Amino acid sequence: MSDIRTFVDSIFDELVAIRRDIHAHPETGMRETRTAALIRSELEKMGVDEIQQPLPTAVVALIHGKKGAGKCVALRADIDALPVHEETGLPFASVNEGVMHACGHDLHTTVLIGAARLLKEYQNDLCGTIKLIFQPAEEVMTGAAKTITNGALETPKPDFILACHTWPDMPAGSIGVRKGTMLGASDSFKVKVIGKGGHAAHPQKGIDPVVIAAHIITQLQTIVSRRVAAIDPVVVTVGHLEAGTAANIIPNEAYFEGTVRTQSNETRNHVAEILKQLAIGTARAMGGDAEVSYTFGVGPTISEDHLVDEISEAVTELLGNDKLLQVPSPSMGSEDFARYLEHIPGAIFRLGTHNDTPESKLALHNASLLFDEKAIPAGVAAMVGAAFKITGSDMSVLLK
Ligand code: NI
Repeated sequence: MSDIRTFVDSIFDELVAIRRDIHAHPETGMRETRTAALIRSELEKMGVDEIQQPLPTAVVALIHGKKGAGKCVALRADIDALPVHEETGLPFASVNEGVMHACGHDLHTTVLIGAARLLKEYQNDLCGTIKLIFQPAEEVMTGAAKTITNGALETPKPDFILACHTWPDMPAGSIGVRKGTMLGASDSFKVKVIGKGGHAAHPQKGIDPVVIAAHIITQLQTIVSRRVAAIDPVVVTVGHLEAGTAANIIPNEAYFEGTVRTQSNETRNHVAEILKQLAIGTARAMGGDAEVSYTFGVGPTISEDHLVDEISEAVTELLGNDKLLQVPSPSMGSEDFARYLEHIPGAIFRLGTHNDTPESKLALHNASLLFDEKAIPAGVAAMVGAAFKITGSDMSVLLK
């Protein structure tokens, strides 16, 4: 058996071909049937155990270690693309009009296929079980929940789960880690303000829901400034507001909705409570009333400390200390990987993807963003190394 780095290098061209095939044929959430078929066929080729499709757009498979008992570790890749018209001009640019892998999920998928290939190759030295989870519809934040509902975390139930995400702010070949919160929770709310309609010239005869809504919206901004610690990041945004039909009529009702982003479960629950109190309390104080519907979406993505340590050790040993970067602060974005973390502990790490070109440093979701494919071997090595460590396998075989 060769050194893992030599082995990854030997399959690099194959992995690049897979990545370019996926990149040229992107599919948006819950439409990833071609991508799922490609993944399935690659896994079948390498002889992976027990391939299942809990959904037509998801693939779950197992690799049983032959070295003995150990933990079951799930490795997850999201496989969906975005409704973005690709403008990279690449020879393998999207052939699907208006759809693009602009978030790098084509790389995530390829990294996991590569990791499967290696784990299969090192199966005799592997303890425990690896569960590969290729999941649809991350961008619309529903794919993880559907994949889990359809049994992805059963028989066997993994002890831990890992994932990675491409990151254009970091150089290709590097891996970014952070203990604790990596991404925020994303929740939403809808408020109906109930007043009493009437003539605009005689407001005293009605209860104006427009003025009440305006007060509530202003009050909601005090959640961030007065009710949560300044060092605890929270965003409250009202993005849609509607009331009335004409300048001279006070309507019966006003309506608005918005989103709340938080970085811990504690603050998340706290903000939900305060928001309801402020909306209803303000409306009642002004003679009206309010109905609040609050929807908890995806929770914060919080990486388990010991798993981050194990990923870091694997990266240092396999790629070198200079390839391991510390992520200084969490992102206010969200990731439906958090759905798995409601069931089992896990960790997510970042996969650097930029090089010297300005196009590789554009933001995720940009139509011209280029991902340096040198990220793929780094991602594969990090996944395989971390899987070895966490299952309790002897990682030194990867360096022989
Ligand atoms: Ni993404």
